[in-house]
Amino acid sequence: MEMERLISGLKRPEDLDLDLTLRPRSLAEYIGQEKVKQQMELFITAAKQRREALDHVLLYGPPGLGKTSLAYIIANEMGVGIHTTSGPAIERQGDLVAILTNLEPKDVLFIDEIHRLNRTVEEILYPAMEDGVVDIIIGKGPGARSVRLELPEFTLVGATTRAGMLTGPLRDRFGVINRLEFYTTSELKVIVERSARIIGVKIDEAGAVEIAKRARGTPRVANRLLRRVRDFAQVKADNYITQAVAQEALTLFEVDQYGLDHIDRKLLTTIVQVFNGGPVGIDTIAAAISEEAATIEDVYEPYLLQLGFLQRTSRGRVVTHLAYQYLGIPCPHEQ
Ligand SMILES: Nc1ncnc2c1ncn2[C@@H]1O[C@H](COP(=O)(O)OP(=O)(O)OP(=O)(O)O)[C@@H](O)[C@H]1O
Ligand SMILES: [Mg+2]
Repeated sequence: MEMERLISGLKRPEDLDLDLTLRPRSLAEYIGQEKVKQQMELFITAAKQRREALDHVLLYGPPGLGKTSLAYIIANEMGVGIHTTSGPAIERQGDLVAILTNLEPKDVLFIDEIHRLNRTVEEILYPAMEDGVVDIIIGKGPGARSVRLELPEFTLVGATTRAGMLTGPLRDRFGVINRLEFYTTSELKVIVERSARIIGVKIDEAGAVEIAKRARGTPRVANRLLRRVRDFAQVKADNYITQAVAQEALTLFEVDQYGLDHIDRKLLTTIVQVFNGGPVGIDTIAAAISEEAATIEDVYEPYLLQLGFLQRTSRGRVVTHLAYQYLGIPCPHEQ
């Protein structure tokens, strides 16, 4: 259950307008992810020179790292239209066939949460991606026949937080597979400064760094923290965010200097106190803290792994000595 959680990378309704106004529109505006950007720039230029559609692209990584933004940028840089849908939204084969046959040549079809496509719909995608055709059955019973439709050339951009849940055949049909990484503090600082300009609040460099440090490597979280700190600054500090202002605000909002909150601490302390530091299975942890195992895996855990507070082993999750240090509990393995 995801309550008022300031530091969750997951999209929330209140983020929608902010996501839109702050979304970068071009590769040049897209901060960080240098490897991904360099590759995409190259592939886009090559495809444009050949006057072809870009190869199919799979983007994966934790929520809020910029997958949707990048999908729109790809269409923008290619100079083509984009049609957006999501795995769970496409219920029947016919829905997907209708979308595919209505695309303009070279358009981008963006399928968010592509790991949630159902299998029969997914089967339509295989020949569509590979050969640019779909086979549909016309009529019923003995008179039924299969008709092959040629599709306009298109680029499928798929996004998922769980690449592991994609089927092999689908994964294999993407020419470009990009994993988005957590952002560094200095990249997030640039994002915060840009966003502050757009929403019209003054911020100094140390103030931007303070927000960046607590944003869990995630632009969506950085923007959300900025917005809350702006409220604080507007009421208490002349609409000017300095380091002290950011610190005071974020302490009030209970986001600590690592960007962790009470749920992260509960997760770590539970493993320490109830399961002797692990290893313990994800489902057992989930039951102990009353959260969904999938939410823990997609949302909480990736950043704790990144910080080095948690490790994944074949026998389950283990808390590291860094986490003991953070929690202020003596580490039993270190005597
Ligand atoms: N590289 C970036 N540079 C600047 N801002 C970014 C970047 N990536 C993301 N953002 C900001 O973060 C917000 C969230 O990004 P986006 O919606 O693209 O994430 P996502 O990976 O699609 O998330 P989800 O998994 O929830 O769909 C964007 O609206 C944008 O403001
Ligand atoms: Mg998205």
